[in-house]
Amino acid sequence: MSAANKRDFGQTGNSTDGKAINMQADLERILFDEKTILRRLDELAAQISADYHDRELTVVAILNGSLIFMADLLRRIPLPLKLDCLSVASYHGGLQTSGEVIFRQVAPPDVAGRHMLLLDDILDSGTTLNAIRKRLETASPRSICVCVLLRKIKPRTHLATADYVGFDIADEFVVGYGLDYMERYRNLRYIGVLRKEMMQ
Ligand code: IMP
Ligand code: MG
Repeated sequence: MSAANKRDFGQTGNSTDGKAINMQADLERILFDEKTILRRLDELAAQISADYHDRELTVVAILNGSLIFMADLLRRIPLPLKLDCLSVASYHGGLQTSGEVIFRQVAPPDVAGRHMLLLDDILDSGTTLNAIRKRLETASPRSICVCVLLRKIKPRTHLATADYVGFDIADEFVVGYGLDYMERYRNLRYIGVLRKEMMQ
């Protein structure tokens, strides 16, 4: 069997110089395995489906972090929803938010008169979600709610809240299941805490 055909839960890959890379070895510990994540998504999806069953729903997913979360969550919601994506940058690939949120699209999505559910990977300082919410309010949706896969338990200077939360976590840097460090680890099937020595 070729390496590509193996179902590799350690998610070993090949570096450009041919050496095997084991992304799991870069983690201090795994926080949520795939089964746990998907079980929680079943619950979140049931809650969202019940809340929006009689409303015109537009989901706005924030790229790139919410991509995998969005794909798994939306397939569990049997409503005639619309989907849009928004691409922003606030971390510039590193650990700390820069405080500045850069929108890659010029025009906001067409959500006038519709109920909007914003999807993001993680609520950390709240800078990103605050800026996005402000921007999308100008597009006149009927309502805006926020759904995040993870929420860090920490004091926030921004008044950013989430209406739907997958998991509350400690204030640690996590990767996997869409979340990155320097654009790596997004394709891990699980979520884990990145070892400190992997971050400069
Ligand atoms: P905030 O503006 O500080 O809330 O940060 C929002 C963005 O920063 C998220 O959408 C993530 O892309 C990124 N981020 C924050 N914390 C983490 C983390 O622990 N791991 C990976 N990315 C993170
Ligand atoms: Mg990121």
